[in-house]
Amino acid sequence: MNIILLGPPGAGKGTQAKRIEEAKGLVQLSTGDMLRAAVAAGSEVGMKAKEVMAAGGLVSDELVIGIISDRIDEDDVQDGFILDGFPRTVAQAEALDVLLKEKSKNLDVVIEMQVEDDPLIKRITGRSTCGSCGEGYHDEFKKPAVEGKCDKCGANDFQRRADDNEETVRSRLVAYHEQTAPLVDYYGKTGKLKSIDGMVAIDDVTAAMLDILS
Ligand code: AP5
Ligand code: MG
Repeated sequence: MNIILLGPPGAGKGTQAKRIEEAKGLVQLSTGDMLRAAVAAGSEVGMKAKEVMAAGGLVSDELVIGIISDRIDEDDVQDGFILDGFPRTVAQAEALDVLLKEKSKNLDVVIEMQVEDDPLIKRITGRSTCGSCGEGYHDEFKKPAVEGKCDKCGANDFQRRADDNEETVRSRLVAYHEQTAPLVDYYGKTGKLKSIDGMVAIDDVTAAMLDILS
């Protein structure tokens, strides 16, 4: 099964993708994570993406389409993947259609996470991630059971993203509304779009998604 999670910054795409990975055995493909890894490695892709990401804009379609095209050829995703943060423009969605056709793969469902803008600022500015295992946290909504210790791996290495400040989040929201929101119509026309309420508690969002996927 191959699915897309569609939603603005802070909608909970990464949080839910990790849960669906565990429940369904699919592989999370986050273009944001891939680009951050490229920036950290100082690669050519990373150097092209760094400033655009820091400003809250979108990196070029060509660059992310290339990354996804290579990634979906890899062995570990042949039983299914969860696209998190891709596609983000109509051009990316059209390119994905072509790629999937060429590679004889199907898109099963697109889950739109419906959320309000204002609470997303709080979600994003309160976010941290375990630098050791990648588990996500929030200062208020998802604290570790023992302060300073990752629930999953026990490490004390909570990290914050360079683009998780209020100013950049506002730019990311503008980019979402202008360039990504048209994908709701795009996938609505294919009959593959399912919309869920992303404002409820994390566990309730997971339950709604697993219901769609079962
Ligand atoms: P990316 O990494 O994809 O960032 P994003 O889309 O801005 O989304 P986030 O990762 O910020 O949010 P999320 O929906 O994953 O939320 P999360 O689950 O963490 O992209 C970063 C940048 O890379 C882009 O700005 C762009 O420059 C570039 N880029 C990436 N892909 C690209 C592409 N295809 N084309 C061009 N450029 C691209 O949750 C957030 C917080 O809220 C967490 O703390 C979590 O614990 C909490 N939370 C989650 N759900 C709930 C809930 N239901 N209730 C309360 N709290 C919750
Ligand atoms: Mg994310």
